[in-house]
Amino acid sequence: MAVQRRGNVKTADTTPFEKQIKRVILQSQTKSPYRGYIVPLLALIGTVALLTWLCSVWTNDNTETMVSQEEVLTQPRVFMVQCSEDYQKYKHFPDVLSSGCTPMKCGRAVSDSVVTADEARALKRLAEKGLALGGSDGGASILDLHSGAMSMGRKFINIYRYFNDQIRDIFTEEDFELYRVVRGRIQTVIAETFGLDSSQLYLTKPTFFSRINSTSAKTPHDEYWHPHIDKVTYGSFDYTSLLYLTDYGVDFIGGRFIFMDINRNRTVEPRAGRVSFFSSGSENLHRVEKVAWGTRYAITVSFTCDPDYAIADPSLP
Ligand SMILES: *[C@@H]1O[C@H](CO)[C@@H](O)[C@H](O)[C@H]1NC(C)=O
Ligand SMILES: *[C@@H]1O[C@H](CO)[C@@H](O)[C@H](O)[C@H]1NC(C)=O
Repeated sequence: MAVQRRGNVKTADTTPFEKQIKRVILQSQTKSPYRGYIVPLLALIGTVALLTWLCSVWTNDNTETMVSQEEVLTQPRVFMVQCSEDYQKYKHFPDVLSSGCTPMKCGRAVSDSVVTADEARALKRLAEKGLALGGSDGGASILDLHSGAMSMGRKFINIYRYFNDQIRDIFTEEDFELYRVVRGRIQTVIAETFGLDSSQLYLTKPTFFSRINSTSAKTPHDEYWHPHIDKVTYGSFDYTSLLYLTDYGVDFIGGRFIFMDINRNRTVEPRAGRVSFFSSGSENLHRVEKVAWGTRYAITVSFTCDPDYAIADPSLP
């Protein structure tokens, strides 16, 4: 009933004015045979332009690849950035303003010539052996040879207490020797790059192996992807380094390291044997992209200028 009534109302409602408009439209259409296509054509062009623009905005979020996985750097690639004021809140080492250790020059660098492919493979095997005995329920596991901490389910165990003397059936003296040699070389390249006295840098904690896959996080310990500043998270840090043991795009997808600058994100694509290092203050805000597929192995090696926070190299008990 209602529909019918409305229909009647509509027909009766066609005013002479509306009729006139229709006539004018009809006339204009007969004047140019293309007229009827102009509006749809303009709409199509507009839609295509809008989609192209949206695509460019989505795909280009101002991300720049600092070093890709395919590249092999024969010498360190160094990017200097202005130091943040973070270091002023801490004691300087040495206490005079000289470039002994506390960052006076800040920045980031990547080198593929510190660790050989064979050494990276051996270190990856070390991590695999250790983590095969435990591992997190979530996607991110750690193994710290210094403290003995290793992810196990939703907690951590101390491998030295847990396995006791049997630890020697798992790791060898050579494994530990390689670890010490490699971390020494990383210390040297950091000192050379930032113009420091290498003997005034100290290894600090946490320094650990990490294994990350795409399994979802089960505890906050598994959430490695949040943006952070190392010096804020760990006050003792002055220089942070990462040694990658697997390859981005080959062994895993996602998992790129991202420096989050004001106007740009700059990524480092992991490559086995690649060392990336940077001053730990807020000039180097960063995050790790979530791993989408495969397994990413790396070692985080941290340095401090404060001898009070120094830790010793690990050794087999
Ligand atoms: C990720 O690693 C955990 C062990 O930490 C394992 O249980 C899980 O199956 C792995 N997930 C994938 C997707 O391979
Ligand atoms: C950098 O990446 C983050 C997400 O990781 C994004 O929110 C931010 O807008 C990006 N910054 C720029 C300048 O593109």
